[in-house]
Amino acid sequence: MKNDINNPRFIILNILKKYYLNNDFFIQDILEDYFQNNKLNEIDKQFIYNITLGVVRNQILLDEIISDLSEKKKIEKTLMLFLRVSIFQSLFSDTIPQYAIISEMLKTADNFHLRKDQKSFLRGVTGGFFRNIDKYKSDNIWINNLPKNVLYSHPLFIYKKWQDILKEEQIIECMKAGNTIPSLIIFNIPKKISIPDLASYFNEKLIQFNFDETNKAFILQRTNPFIKDLLSKGQIYIQGMHQHKAIDLCPAKDGDKVLEIGAAPGGKTITLSSKVEKEGQVYSVDKSDTRIKMLQQRIKISDLTNVLVFNLDILKELPADFPGKFDHIVLDPPCSNLAELSRRPEARYRATEEDINQLSQLQRNMIDNSIHRLKNGGTFLYITCTLTKNENQDIRDYIQNQYHLKTEKELQTIPSIAEPAGGFACLFRKH
Ligand SMILES: C[S@@+](CC[C@H](N)C(=O)[O-])C[C@H]1O[C@@H](n2cnc3c(N)ncnc32)[C@H](O)[C@@H]1O
Repeated sequence: MKNDINNPRFIILNILKKYYLNNDFFIQDILEDYFQNNKLNEIDKQFIYNITLGVVRNQILLDEIISDLSEKKKIEKTLMLFLRVSIFQSLFSDTIPQYAIISEMLKTADNFHLRKDQKSFLRGVTGGFFRNIDKYKSDNIWINNLPKNVLYSHPLFIYKKWQDILKEEQIIECMKAGNTIPSLIIFNIPKKISIPDLASYFNEKLIQFNFDETNKAFILQRTNPFIKDLLSKGQIYIQGMHQHKAIDLCPAKDGDKVLEIGAAPGGKTITLSSKVEKEGQVYSVDKSDTRIKMLQQRIKISDLTNVLVFNLDILKELPADFPGKFDHIVLDPPCSNLAELSRRPEARYRATEEDINQLSQLQRNMIDNSIHRLKNGGTFLYITCTLTKNENQDIRDYIQNQYHLKTEKELQTIPSIAEPAGGFACLFRKH
C-alpha cells in the first residue's frame, strides 16, 4: 500500500506520537511547527488541531474507556494512540460515521506498518466500543458513575487542590473549561490601529468576530492567516481576559515609574506602556534570553517608546545603576498555569505537588528580592494564571503578613466554558 503521508489521520498519529514519546514537548508547539513546515489547507489544519488537542484534553476519560474495553490489559503505546483517536472521534464528533472511523484507522495502521495481529487487536477493541457505544455516551450510568475528575480528564491531585479554594460546582465548571477550545481575544494597539479600522479590516477580510464593548476586545472563534500579519506589524496583541483585567488593576498614570518583573514576552508591557504615557517609564525585567528577544521585538514593532528592557535575574543582585524606587511594581512570575488548561492542555498531566511547592517558593523569593524597591504610597500587583492556594491566597497572606502591605483589590477568575482562561491577581499598597 502507498504511504499516504498527507492523510490528516496519519499526520495526527505522528504528532501525537511525538508528543507522547517526549515529555518536554508542548502539543501546541508540535502543531505550529508542523503547520509551518508543511503546506496544508485550512480545513485539514483545523481537523488535525481539533483532534490532537481533543485527545490530549480528554486523555484520562479515553484511557478509562479503553481499559474497560480491553479488560484492563496492558496495551502497546502506539496502539493506545490509535484507540484514543478513534474513540475520541466517535464520542466527540457526530459527523464521522462508524465505518469511516474504522476504515480510516486501519488505513493509517497500514501507513504505520502495523502487523496483522496489531490491526486485528485494534479492530477488536473498536468493534467492542461500537457494539457498546451507548454505555460510553454521556447520559449512561457507567459514565455518570465515573469519578468527576476522570469524566473531565483531570488528575486527582488537581481536583483535590481545587477543593481547597472552590466549591464542587466551580471545580466541575473549571474542568469543563479546561476541555474547551478557547476563543481568540484580540486587542488593538491604539498607536498602530484604531478600533474602527481594525473592525473594518476584519469585515473586509470576511473574518467573523464579536466585539466586547466593556473590555474593548475583538473575540474570534478561530485564528486565520491575517492575524499573523497584524501581529507582525505590531497592530494587535492577543491576551486572555483574566490577564487583561489583572494588568488593568495597576493604577499607574502618566509620569509614573513602573517595574515589571517577569515581563516577557510582553503581553502586559503594552498596557503598562499606555498607562504611563509620554512622561512615564516602564522598566521591564526578565531573565529568559529567548523570551526577552520576543519582548524587544514587540516593543520595536509596536513603537513603545517608554519601555526599557533588562535581561536580568531578579533573584541576583541588580546592577548598581538600576533605578532604586518605583511608583508601582508588577510581578507576573512563573506559575503552574492551572487556570489556563484549555490553552495549555498538557500542563495538567505534567504538574506535580512538588512543582507547585517549588513555584510557590520561587514566587516568594521574587517578592523578597523586589518589594523593597516600592515607594511609600506605591502599589505592588501580583498576577498568576493558576488556581492553587499555595500560589495565590498563601502568597497574598505572605505579602500582607511579611511586608504589612494592605490588599486594595483582589481578583480570582474561575475558568468557565464562556471564558476558559482564569487566574488570580492582588493589588497591594504600601502605606
Ligand atoms: C508568566 S511569565 C510572564 C508573562 C508576561 N508577563 C506576559 O504577560 O507576557 C513569567 C516570566 O518570568 C520570567 N522569570 C522567571 N524567573 C525569573 C527571574 N528570576 N528573574 C526575572 N524573570 C524571571 C520568565 O522568564 C517568564 O518570562
